[in-house]
Amino acid sequence: MVMLNHPDYIRHVLVDKSEQYDKNAAVFKIARPVLRDGLIATPDMELWRRQRRMMAPYFTPRTVSNFARNMTDETTSMLGRWEERSDPAAALDVTDEFGQLALRIVSKSLFNAEVGDAAQAFERAFQLANTVLGDFFSFPFPPLGFPTPSHVRLRRAIDRMDGFVSGFISERLAQGVEAGEEPDLLSLFLGAVDENDGKGMDLEQLHHEVLNICVGAYETTTNTLAWAFYLLARHPEVERKLHAEVDRVLGERTVPAFEDLPELTYTRMIVDEVLRIYSPAYQLMRRAREDDVIDGYRVPAGTQVLVNSYLLHRHPDFWEDPERFDPERFGAEEIAKRPRHAYVPFGSGPRVCLGKHFALTEICLAMAAIARRYRLVSPPGAPEVLPDALITLHPKGGVHLRLERR
Ligand code: HEM
Repeated sequence: MVMLNHPDYIRHVLVDKSEQYDKNAAVFKIARPVLRDGLIATPDMELWRRQRRMMAPYFTPRTVSNFARNMTDETTSMLGRWEERSDPAAALDVTDEFGQLALRIVSKSLFNAEVGDAAQAFERAFQLANTVLGDFFSFPFPPLGFPTPSHVRLRRAIDRMDGFVSGFISERLAQGVEAGEEPDLLSLFLGAVDENDGKGMDLEQLHHEVLNICVGAYETTTNTLAWAFYLLARHPEVERKLHAEVDRVLGERTVPAFEDLPELTYTRMIVDEVLRIYSPAYQLMRRAREDDVIDGYRVPAGTQVLVNSYLLHRHPDFWEDPERFDPERFGAEEIAKRPRHAYVPFGSGPRVCLGKHFALTEICLAMAAIARRYRLVSPPGAPEVLPDALITLHPKGGVHLRLERR
């Protein structure tokens, strides 16, 4: 395995020579029992191109604005639930809260459905799969097909995630879309046809893509919000600036709108910095399809290539005092001074995260809405939360914070 830790090399593999590096790589092979032939892990470049062509139009910055109301409505409901907690002084596991929020938002956007209790079942199944597959990545033996107790639990977890997706799909198919109703993503995917062959996607592929979106959208967004409030609780000077911005932009309003985003510049800088320090999808992998040379180093066909953004985002040549949480790094001038590929929380090139704009919109809107009403503070003596290097970078043991009304 070759590990790349320089922006030029990363651009070479992900952008300049993207056709020469595919996803026949270890981390995706390991995730494939869950993700199958959906966009995230498929090694089949033809299938990927076709699917991406059909789905990309629904994830542009403009089209994502159609889902902003789901994001703010669901955040408002979460804040309502916080308001009614029986013991307001007790610490809250915000990882769990944000997990449910992320799933509710993605289910509303995909199927126009309220997930209710199904969200918790999906969360548990996902966490189990993330742990079993994360362990398998560190020590890939015995094969996943071998029925050890943890592999049997993995199989059941995958069945539960499949059940979550197929339940909503069949309900939605039975319902149909009513005239005048804002179409959800599922109906848009159902109607999508490829410009080359004029055909759409079959139900099995649709199932895989929907599951990929649920998986892609759930843990990454959850972790970003959880780490964000963990870091804010430890950096009151940053929190004060966030509150000042949110109060100024929102004025009398308690809930932000999509149109506020261009003004919420400091909020966005915080999100960018959180994604630097705790990049949730921290392992990008590819396999070289042909012999290549990167800056004089020979990379034979078949080589596994790894980019670890946890390390890249701490590279001392590009980040001063890299362990320090400092959103000012993401001011426009500071960004311009750095090579673009020193920072890849969403990947880069043709396989850049499909949900990047969806995620940034969701995270900024949720953060602003929460910060307008609450401070989330560390309980006295709370230990440091360490990252757990699973398939994603998970806050070990969750993030527990106390709510204080502002
Ligand atoms: C903070 C949140 C998120 C982060 C950090 C993140 C990160 C990433 C990264 C790094 C990749 C590229 C992997 C690679 O090149 O090997 C990726 C791909 C992908 N992500 Fe995200 N993601 C996030 C949110 C989302 C959301 C909200 C969705 C769906 C709505 C989503 C759907 C996908 C899909 C479908 C792909 C595969 C794209 C392709 O290969 O064409 N992600 N994500």
